[in-house]
Amino acid sequence: MRTIIEPFKIKSVEPIRLSTAEEREAKLRAAGYNVFLLPAEDVLIDLLTDSGTAAMSSEQWAAVMRGDEAYAGSRSWYRFESAVRDIFGFRHVLPTHQGRAAERILFTVMCTPGDVVPNNTHFDTTRANIEFTGAEARDLVIAEGLVPSARHPFKGNMDVDRLRALIAEVGRERIPLCMLTVTNNSGGGQPVSMANVREVSGLCRDHGIPLYIDACRFAENAYFIKLREPGFADRTPLEIARELFSYADGCTMSAKKDGLANIGGFLATNDDRLARQERNLLILTEGFPTYGGLAGRDLEAVAVGLHEALDEDYLLYRVTSTTYLGEHVSRAGVPIVQPPGGHAVYIDAAAFFPRIPPAELPGQALVVELYREAGIRTVEIGSVMFGRRVPETGEELPAAMELVRLAIPRRVYTQSHIDYVVEAVLNVWSRRDRVRGYRFVEQAPFLRHFTARFAPLS
Ligand SMILES: Cc1ncc(COP(=O)(O)O)c(C=O)c1O
Repeated sequence: MRTIIEPFKIKSVEPIRLSTAEEREAKLRAAGYNVFLLPAEDVLIDLLTDSGTAAMSSEQWAAVMRGDEAYAGSRSWYRFESAVRDIFGFRHVLPTHQGRAAERILFTVMCTPGDVVPNNTHFDTTRANIEFTGAEARDLVIAEGLVPSARHPFKGNMDVDRLRALIAEVGRERIPLCMLTVTNNSGGGQPVSMANVREVSGLCRDHGIPLYIDACRFAENAYFIKLREPGFADRTPLEIARELFSYADGCTMSAKKDGLANIGGFLATNDDRLARQERNLLILTEGFPTYGGLAGRDLEAVAVGLHEALDEDYLLYRVTSTTYLGEHVSRAGVPIVQPPGGHAVYIDAAAFFPRIPPAELPGQALVVELYREAGIRTVEIGSVMFGRRVPETGEELPAAMELVRLAIPRRVYTQSHIDYVVEAVLNVWSRRDRVRGYRFVEQAPFLRHFTARFAPLS
Protein backbone atom coordinates (compact mmCIF):
# COMPACT_ATOMS: atom_id res chain seq x y z
CA MET A 1 0.00 0.00 0.00
CA ARG A 2 1.17 3.52 -0.81
CA THR A 3 -1.11 5.25 1.71
CA ILE A 4 0.61 5.83 5.03
CA ILE A 5 -1.90 5.80 7.87
CA GLU A 6 -1.85 6.99 11.47
CA PRO A 7 -0.69 3.79 13.22
CA PHE A 8 -3.25 4.12 16.02
CA LYS A 9 -7.00 4.24 16.67
CA ILE A 10 -8.71 6.99 18.68
CA LYS A 11 -10.13 5.90 22.04
CA SER A 12 -10.93 9.25 23.63
CA VAL A 13 -11.81 12.51 21.91
CA GLU A 14 -11.66 16.16 22.91
CA PRO A 15 -14.04 18.65 21.24
CA ILE A 16 -12.78 21.56 19.15
CA ARG A 17 -14.98 24.65 19.46
CA LEU A 18 -15.48 26.36 16.09
CA SER A 19 -15.32 30.18 16.08
CA THR A 20 -16.30 33.04 13.77
CA ALA A 21 -13.95 35.58 12.20
CA GLU A 22 -15.49 38.34 14.38
CA GLU A 23 -14.87 36.37 17.56
CA ARG A 24 -11.26 35.77 16.58
CA GLU A 25 -10.73 39.46 15.84
CA ALA A 26 -11.96 40.38 19.33
CA LYS A 27 -9.80 37.68 20.95
CA LEU A 28 -6.71 38.92 19.09
CA ARG A 29 -7.25 42.48 20.25
CA ALA A 30 -7.77 41.39 23.87
CA ALA A 31 -4.55 39.33 23.75
CA GLY A 32 -2.43 42.25 22.47
CA TYR A 33 -1.95 40.28 19.22
CA ASN A 34 0.16 37.75 21.14
CA VAL A 35 -1.26 34.25 20.61
CA PHE A 36 0.48 32.99 23.77
CA LEU A 37 -2.09 35.10 25.65
CA LEU A 38 -5.14 33.45 24.00
CA PRO A 39 -7.21 30.92 25.97
CA ALA A 40 -6.63 27.51 24.35
CA GLU A 41 -10.36 26.94 23.94
CA ASP A 42 -10.43 29.84 21.46
CA VAL A 43 -7.95 27.98 19.23
CA LEU A 44 -9.16 25.52 16.56
CA ILE A 45 -5.89 23.86 15.62
CA ASP A 46 -3.10 24.43 18.09
CA LEU A 47 0.30 24.32 16.40
CA LEU A 48 1.94 26.56 19.01
CA THR A 49 4.18 23.76 20.15
CA ASP A 50 4.85 20.06 20.04
CA SER A 51 5.94 20.30 23.68
CA GLY A 52 3.81 18.52 26.25
CA THR A 53 0.94 18.29 23.77
CA ALA A 54 1.23 14.62 22.72
CA ALA A 55 -1.68 12.21 23.02
CA MET A 56 -0.59 9.45 25.38
CA SER A 57 -1.07 5.82 24.42
CA SER A 58 -3.20 3.25 26.24
CA GLU A 59 0.09 1.72 27.49
CA GLN A 60 1.12 5.06 28.95
CA TRP A 61 -2.26 5.53 30.69
CA ALA A 62 -1.96 2.01 32.06
CA ALA A 63 1.50 2.89 33.34
CA VAL A 64 0.09 6.05 34.95
CA MET A 65 -2.13 3.78 37.06
CA ARG A 66 0.99 1.90 38.17
CA GLY A 67 2.56 5.15 39.41
CA ASP A 68 4.24 4.59 42.77
CA GLU A 69 4.09 7.83 44.73
CA ALA A 70 6.65 6.92 47.39
CA TYR A 71 8.77 9.98 48.18
CA ALA A 72 12.08 8.15 47.91
CA GLY A 73 13.13 5.23 45.72
CA SER A 74 9.72 4.53 44.18
CA ARG A 75 9.29 1.66 41.71
CA SER A 76 8.34 4.29 39.11
CA TRP A 77 11.73 5.97 39.54
CA TYR A 78 13.60 2.74 38.88
CA ARG A 79 11.53 2.11 35.74
CA PHE A 80 12.25 5.67 34.57
CA GLU A 81 15.98 5.40 35.31
CA SER A 82 16.20 2.05 33.56
CA ALA A 83 14.44 3.35 30.39
CA VAL A 84 16.73 6.38 30.25
CA ARG A 85 19.88 4.30 30.82
CA ASP A 86 18.78 1.76 28.21
CA ILE A 87 18.47 4.38 25.47
CA PHE A 88 20.86 7.15 26.46
CA GLY A 89 23.49 5.12 28.28
CA PHE A 90 24.65 7.78 30.77
CA ARG A 91 25.66 6.77 34.31
CA HIS A 92 23.79 9.45 36.28
CA VAL A 93 20.15 10.34 35.62
CA LEU A 94 18.51 13.30 37.36
CA PRO A 95 14.76 13.66 36.80
CA THR A 96 13.43 17.21 36.33
CA HIS A 97 9.98 18.67 35.77
CA GLN A 98 10.95 19.72 32.24
CA GLY A 99 13.89 20.49 29.97
CA ARG A 100 14.72 23.97 31.17
CA ALA A 101 15.14 22.77 34.77
CA ALA A 102 17.83 20.38 33.52
CA GLU A 103 19.43 23.28 31.63
CA ARG A 104 19.39 25.57 34.66
CA ILE A 105 21.10 22.96 36.84
CA LEU A 106 23.68 22.05 34.18
CA PHE A 107 24.67 25.64 33.39
CA THR A 108 24.66 26.74 37.05
CA VAL A 109 27.18 24.02 37.81
CA MET A 110 29.32 24.40 34.68
CA CYS A 111 29.28 28.07 33.58
CA THR A 112 30.84 31.24 35.00
CA PRO A 113 30.70 34.82 33.69
CA GLY A 114 32.83 35.26 30.59
CA ASP A 115 32.46 31.64 29.45
CA VAL A 116 31.25 30.78 25.94
CA VAL A 117 28.96 27.81 25.18
CA PRO A 118 28.81 26.74 21.52
CA ASN A 119 25.79 24.90 20.07
CA ASN A 120 24.45 24.35 16.55
CA THR A 121 21.59 26.68 17.54
CA HIS A 122 20.61 27.33 21.14
CA PHE A 123 16.91 27.01 21.86
CA ASP A 124 15.45 30.09 23.60
CA THR A 125 15.41 28.58 27.12
CA THR A 126 18.93 27.20 26.63
CA ARG A 127 20.25 30.58 25.57
CA ALA A 128 18.42 32.36 28.40
CA ASN A 129 19.73 29.93 31.04
CA ILE A 130 23.32 30.30 29.76
CA GLU A 131 23.07 34.09 29.66
CA PHE A 132 21.58 34.10 33.17
CA THR A 133 24.91 32.70 34.48
CA GLY A 134 26.84 35.52 32.74
CA ALA A 135 28.16 33.22 30.00
CA GLU A 136 27.68 33.69 26.26
CA ALA A 137 25.66 31.34 24.03
CA ARG A 138 27.23 31.05 20.56
CA ASP A 139 25.39 29.51 17.55
CA LEU A 140 27.66 27.67 15.08
CA VAL A 141 25.27 25.95 12.68
CA ILE A 142 26.56 25.29 9.13
CA ALA A 143 25.96 28.07 6.58
CA GLU A 144 23.15 26.10 4.85
CA GLY A 145 21.31 26.03 8.18
CA LEU A 146 20.78 29.79 7.94
CA VAL A 147 19.35 29.77 4.41
CA PRO A 148 15.72 28.61 4.55
CA SER A 149 15.56 27.59 0.88
CA ALA A 150 18.92 25.72 0.88
CA ARG A 151 18.48 21.94 0.68
CA HIS A 152 20.82 19.81 2.77
CA PRO A 153 19.98 16.49 4.42
CA PHE A 154 21.51 17.58 7.75
CA LYS A 155 20.97 21.31 8.02
CA GLY A 156 21.27 21.05 11.80
CA ASN A 157 24.97 20.16 11.62
CA MET A 158 27.49 22.24 13.50
CA ASP A 159 30.19 24.01 11.48
CA VAL A 160 33.24 22.19 12.83
CA ASP A 161 35.68 24.74 11.39
CA ARG A 162 33.90 27.52 13.25
CA LEU A 163 34.02 25.45 16.44
CA ARG A 164 37.78 24.95 15.94
CA ALA A 165 38.18 28.71 15.34
CA LEU A 166 36.16 29.49 18.48
CA ILE A 167 38.36 27.25 20.62
CA ALA A 168 41.47 28.98 19.19
CA GLU A 169 39.91 32.42 19.69
CA VAL A 170 38.68 32.21 23.30
CA GLY A 171 40.73 29.27 24.62
CA ARG A 172 39.59 25.93 26.01
CA GLU A 173 39.39 27.34 29.58
CA ARG A 174 36.50 29.62 28.61
CA ILE A 175 34.45 26.81 27.00
CA PRO A 176 33.04 24.75 29.89
CA LEU A 177 30.97 22.57 27.54
CA CYS A 178 29.79 22.27 23.96
CA MET A 179 26.20 21.41 23.03
CA LEU A 180 24.43 19.89 20.02
CA THR A 181 20.66 20.22 19.69
CA VAL A 182 18.99 17.23 17.98
CA THR A 183 16.97 18.06 15.98
CA ASN A 184 17.83 21.73 15.67
CA ASN A 185 14.51 23.27 16.72
CA SER A 186 15.36 26.96 16.29
CA GLY A 187 16.97 26.23 12.92
CA GLY A 188 13.93 24.57 11.36
CA GLY A 189 13.75 21.21 13.17
CA GLN A 190 16.64 20.00 11.01
CA PRO A 191 18.62 16.88 11.95
CA VAL A 192 22.28 16.47 12.84
CA SER A 193 24.16 13.65 11.10
CA MET A 194 26.03 10.92 12.96
CA ALA A 195 29.18 11.98 11.08
CA ASN A 196 28.82 15.49 12.48
CA VAL A 197 28.24 14.24 16.03
CA ARG A 198 31.38 12.09 15.73
CA GLU A 199 33.44 14.98 14.39
CA VAL A 200 32.26 17.49 17.01
CA SER A 201 32.81 14.89 19.72
CA GLY A 202 36.34 14.14 18.46
CA LEU A 203 37.30 17.82 18.45
CA CYS A 204 35.79 18.36 21.92
CA ARG A 205 37.64 15.32 23.30
CA ASP A 206 40.94 16.54 21.80
CA HIS A 207 40.51 19.72 23.86
CA GLY A 208 38.97 18.15 26.94
CA ILE A 209 35.63 19.92 26.41
CA PRO A 210 32.57 17.92 27.54
CA LEU A 211 29.88 17.47 24.86
CA TYR A 212 26.23 17.56 25.92
CA ILE A 213 23.30 16.74 23.65
CA ASP A 214 20.06 18.73 23.88
CA ALA A 215 18.12 15.53 23.24
CA CYS A 216 14.47 16.74 23.04
CA ARG A 217 13.84 15.21 19.59
CA PHE A 218 16.40 12.42 19.64
CA ALA A 219 14.03 9.83 18.11
CA GLU A 220 13.10 12.01 15.14
CA ASN A 221 16.81 12.78 14.64
CA ALA A 222 17.65 9.06 14.76
CA TYR A 223 14.98 8.36 12.13
CA PHE A 224 16.36 11.04 9.79
CA ILE A 225 19.82 9.44 10.16
CA LYS A 226 18.27 6.10 9.20
CA LEU A 227 16.53 7.62 6.16
CA ARG A 228 19.28 9.93 4.93
CA GLU A 229 22.74 8.91 6.12
CA PRO A 230 24.61 6.18 4.24
CA GLY A 231 25.20 3.07 6.33
CA PHE A 232 22.22 3.43 8.68
CA ALA A 233 19.28 2.12 6.61
CA ASP A 234 19.37 -1.28 8.31
CA ARG A 235 19.82 -0.02 11.86
CA THR A 236 16.90 0.56 14.22
CA PRO A 237 16.21 4.05 15.60
CA LEU A 238 17.12 2.67 19.05
CA GLU A 239 20.53 1.47 17.85
CA ILE A 240 21.15 4.78 16.12
CA ALA A 241 20.18 6.76 19.23
CA ARG A 242 22.48 4.64 21.40
CA GLU A 243 25.41 5.26 19.08
CA LEU A 244 24.73 9.00 18.95
CA PHE A 245 24.71 9.34 22.74
CA SER A 246 27.86 7.23 23.05
CA TYR A 247 29.81 10.19 21.61
CA ALA A 248 28.57 12.55 24.34
CA ASP A 249 29.30 13.13 28.02
CA GLY A 250 25.73 13.88 28.98
CA CYS A 251 22.42 15.34 27.85
CA THR A 252 19.50 17.53 28.76
CA MET A 253 16.06 16.27 27.83
CA SER A 254 12.55 17.61 27.73
CA ALA A 255 10.38 14.48 27.79
CA LYS A 256 7.52 16.70 26.60
CA LYS A 257 8.78 16.08 23.06
CA ASP A 258 10.14 12.63 22.19
CA GLY A 259 9.20 11.35 25.65
CA LEU A 260 5.58 11.52 24.40
CA ALA A 261 4.62 12.77 27.85
CA ASN A 262 2.78 15.88 28.97
CA ILE A 263 5.42 16.83 31.52
CA GLY A 264 8.91 15.69 32.50
CA GLY A 265 12.57 15.81 31.64
CA PHE A 266 15.99 14.86 32.88
CA LEU A 267 19.65 15.73 33.03
CA ALA A 268 22.13 12.90 32.48
CA THR A 269 25.89 12.79 32.78
CA ASN A 270 28.85 10.43 33.05
CA ASP A 271 30.74 12.82 35.35
CA ASP A 272 30.58 11.64 38.99
CA ARG A 273 31.76 14.94 40.50
CA LEU A 274 29.33 17.07 38.48
CA ALA A 275 26.50 14.67 39.23
CA ARG A 276 27.05 15.20 42.99
CA GLN A 277 26.85 18.98 42.60
CA GLU A 278 23.86 18.71 40.28
CA ARG A 279 21.97 16.48 42.71
CA ASN A 280 22.43 19.07 45.44
CA LEU A 281 20.92 21.75 43.23
CA LEU A 282 18.14 19.38 42.18
CA ILE A 283 17.14 18.89 45.82
CA LEU A 284 17.09 22.65 46.35
CA THR A 285 14.43 23.41 43.74
CA GLU A 286 13.12 20.28 41.98
CA GLY A 287 12.87 17.67 44.71
CA PHE A 288 14.46 14.46 45.97
CA PRO A 289 16.70 12.84 43.30
CA THR A 290 14.32 9.92 42.70
CA TYR A 291 11.40 12.13 41.63
CA GLY A 292 12.85 15.56 40.75
CA GLY A 293 9.61 17.53 40.59
CA LEU A 294 7.59 14.75 38.97
CA ALA A 295 4.85 12.52 40.32
CA GLY A 296 5.50 8.76 40.15
CA ARG A 297 2.82 8.53 37.44
CA ASP A 298 4.67 11.12 35.33
CA LEU A 299 7.88 9.09 35.60
CA GLU A 300 5.92 6.05 34.35
CA ALA A 301 4.47 7.90 31.35
CA VAL A 302 7.95 9.03 30.29
CA ALA A 303 9.49 5.57 30.80
CA VAL A 304 6.94 4.09 28.35
CA GLY A 305 6.90 7.11 26.00
CA LEU A 306 10.67 7.15 25.38
CA HIS A 307 10.50 3.70 23.82
CA GLU A 308 7.23 4.35 21.93
CA ALA A 309 8.87 7.39 20.30
CA LEU A 310 11.48 5.05 18.77
CA ASP A 311 8.87 2.80 17.13
CA GLU A 312 9.48 2.81 13.38
CA ASP A 313 5.81 2.77 12.31
CA TYR A 314 5.18 5.77 14.52
CA LEU A 315 8.25 7.61 13.19
CA LEU A 316 7.27 6.92 9.57
CA TYR A 317 3.79 8.39 10.18
CA ARG A 318 5.26 11.31 12.13
CA VAL A 319 7.76 12.38 9.48
CA THR A 320 5.29 11.72 6.62
CA SER A 321 2.61 13.90 8.19
CA THR A 322 4.98 16.85 8.67
CA THR A 323 6.34 16.45 5.13
CA TYR A 324 2.77 16.32 3.73
CA LEU A 325 1.99 19.74 5.22
CA GLY A 326 5.33 21.19 4.09
CA GLU A 327 5.05 19.90 0.54
CA HIS A 328 1.44 20.99 0.03
CA VAL A 329 2.11 24.61 0.98
CA SER A 330 5.50 24.80 -0.70
CA ARG A 331 4.14 23.43 -3.99
CA ALA A 332 1.82 26.45 -4.09
CA GLY A 333 4.83 28.77 -3.71
CA VAL A 334 4.83 29.36 0.06
CA PRO A 335 8.48 29.76 1.14
CA ILE A 336 9.36 27.23 3.84
CA VAL A 337 12.56 25.96 5.41
CA GLN A 338 13.53 23.10 3.12
CA PRO A 339 13.26 20.23 3.64
CA PRO A 340 10.40 20.17 6.20
CA GLY A 341 11.66 19.38 9.71
CA GLY A 342 10.69 16.44 11.91
CA HIS A 343 8.23 18.04 14.29
CA ALA A 344 7.27 21.17 12.41
CA VAL A 345 7.05 23.12 9.20
CA TYR A 346 8.75 26.50 9.33
CA ILE A 347 7.47 29.24 7.02
CA ASP A 348 10.02 31.86 5.97
CA ALA A 349 8.00 34.95 6.94
CA ALA A 350 10.61 37.36 5.51
CA ALA A 351 10.10 35.81 2.06
CA PHE A 352 6.31 35.43 2.60
CA PHE A 353 6.01 39.20 3.29
CA PRO A 354 8.98 40.78 1.46
CA ARG A 355 7.51 44.25 2.01
CA ILE A 356 7.50 43.92 5.81
CA PRO A 357 11.06 44.60 7.14
CA PRO A 358 12.38 42.67 10.19
CA ALA A 359 11.83 45.75 12.40
CA GLU A 360 8.10 45.45 11.61
CA LEU A 361 8.00 41.81 12.69
CA PRO A 362 6.87 39.84 9.59
CA GLY A 363 6.72 36.58 11.59
CA GLN A 364 4.34 38.10 14.11
CA ALA A 365 2.19 39.37 11.22
CA LEU A 366 1.92 35.82 9.82
CA VAL A 367 1.11 34.32 13.23
CA VAL A 368 -1.74 36.83 13.61
CA GLU A 369 -3.06 36.19 10.08
CA LEU A 370 -3.20 32.40 10.54
CA TYR A 371 -5.26 32.84 13.70
CA ARG A 372 -7.45 35.49 12.07
CA GLU A 373 -8.03 33.27 8.99
CA ALA A 374 -8.80 29.94 10.60
CA GLY A 375 -8.14 29.95 14.36
CA ILE A 376 -4.75 28.27 13.91
CA ARG A 377 -2.17 29.07 16.59
CA THR A 378 1.50 29.03 15.54
CA VAL A 379 4.66 30.60 16.95
CA GLU A 380 7.04 33.27 15.71
CA ILE A 381 10.71 32.22 15.73
CA GLY A 382 12.30 35.42 14.49
CA SER A 383 12.94 38.91 15.76
CA VAL A 384 10.24 38.70 18.45
CA MET A 385 11.83 35.59 19.97
CA PHE A 386 15.51 36.12 19.20
CA GLY A 387 15.88 39.82 18.34
CA ARG A 388 16.70 42.20 21.15
CA ARG A 389 16.20 45.80 22.16
CA VAL A 390 19.30 47.85 22.96
CA PRO A 391 18.31 49.34 26.36
CA GLU A 392 20.31 52.57 25.86
CA THR A 393 18.92 53.49 22.42
CA GLY A 394 15.69 51.49 22.16
CA GLU A 395 16.96 50.15 18.82
CA GLU A 396 15.61 46.71 17.79
CA LEU A 397 18.32 44.27 16.61
CA PRO A 398 16.80 41.64 14.29
CA ALA A 399 17.25 37.85 14.46
CA ALA A 400 19.14 35.87 11.80
CA MET A 401 15.88 34.53 10.29
CA GLU A 402 12.17 35.43 10.42
CA LEU A 403 10.41 32.08 10.76
CA VAL A 404 6.93 30.97 11.81
CA ARG A 405 6.76 27.45 13.18
CA LEU A 406 3.78 25.18 12.67
CA ALA A 407 4.60 22.52 15.27
CA ILE A 408 2.60 19.30 15.04
CA PRO A 409 1.59 17.76 18.38
CA ARG A 410 2.39 14.03 18.43
CA ARG A 411 -0.53 11.65 17.65
CA VAL A 412 -3.13 14.45 18.09
CA TYR A 413 -4.31 15.65 14.69
CA THR A 414 -5.50 13.65 11.69
CA GLN A 415 -5.03 14.15 7.96
CA SER A 416 -8.16 16.35 7.63
CA HIS A 417 -6.85 18.71 10.31
CA ILE A 418 -3.64 19.02 8.32
CA ASP A 419 -5.65 19.67 5.12
CA TYR A 420 -7.49 22.46 6.97
CA VAL A 421 -4.12 24.01 7.90
CA VAL A 422 -2.91 23.78 4.28
CA GLU A 423 -6.04 25.62 3.11
CA ALA A 424 -5.60 28.37 5.70
CA VAL A 425 -1.94 28.96 4.82
CA LEU A 426 -2.82 29.20 1.13
CA ASN A 427 -5.66 31.66 1.84
CA VAL A 428 -3.27 33.97 3.71
CA TRP A 429 -0.70 33.51 0.91
CA SER A 430 -3.26 34.71 -1.66
CA ARG A 431 -3.82 37.99 0.23
CA ARG A 432 -0.23 38.51 1.43
CA ASP A 433 0.18 41.93 -0.27
CA ARG A 434 -2.46 43.45 1.98
CA VAL A 435 -0.90 42.39 5.31
CA ARG A 436 0.94 44.96 7.48
CA GLY A 437 3.58 44.70 10.21
CA TYR A 438 3.49 45.08 14.02
CA ARG A 439 5.32 46.97 16.76
CA PHE A 440 5.98 46.12 20.41
CA VAL A 441 3.79 47.86 22.96
CA GLU A 442 5.18 45.98 26.00
CA GLN A 443 8.10 43.55 26.46
CA ALA A 444 9.95 41.77 29.29
CA PRO A 445 13.79 41.69 29.53
CA PHE A 446 13.99 37.85 29.18
CA LEU A 447 12.00 35.50 26.91
CA ARG A 448 9.92 38.45 25.81
CA HIS A 449 7.84 36.54 23.25
CA PHE A 450 5.80 34.85 25.99
CA THR A 451 4.28 38.04 27.42
CA ALA A 452 4.88 40.86 24.92
CA ARG A 453 1.96 42.87 23.59
CA PHE A 454 1.85 44.27 20.07
CA ALA A 455 -0.06 46.79 17.98
CA PRO A 456 -0.67 46.64 14.22
CA LEU A 457 1.09 49.29 12.15
CA SER A 458 -1.31 51.40 10.17
C1 LIG B 1 15.56 22.16 21.61
C2 LIG B 1 14.89 22.47 22.91
N1 LIG B 1 15.61 22.52 24.03
C3 LIG B 1 15.06 22.76 25.23
C4 LIG B 1 13.71 22.96 25.36
C5 LIG B 1 13.13 23.26 26.73
O1 LIG B 1 12.30 22.25 27.20
P1 LIG B 1 11.08 22.56 28.20
O2 LIG B 1 10.06 23.34 27.44
O3 LIG B 1 10.59 21.23 28.62
O4 LIG B 1 11.63 23.35 29.34
C6 LIG B 1 12.90 22.92 24.23
C7 LIG B 1 11.45 23.16 24.34
O5 LIG B 1 10.76 23.45 23.41
C8 LIG B 1 13.51 22.65 22.97
O6 LIG B 1 12.79 22.58 21.83
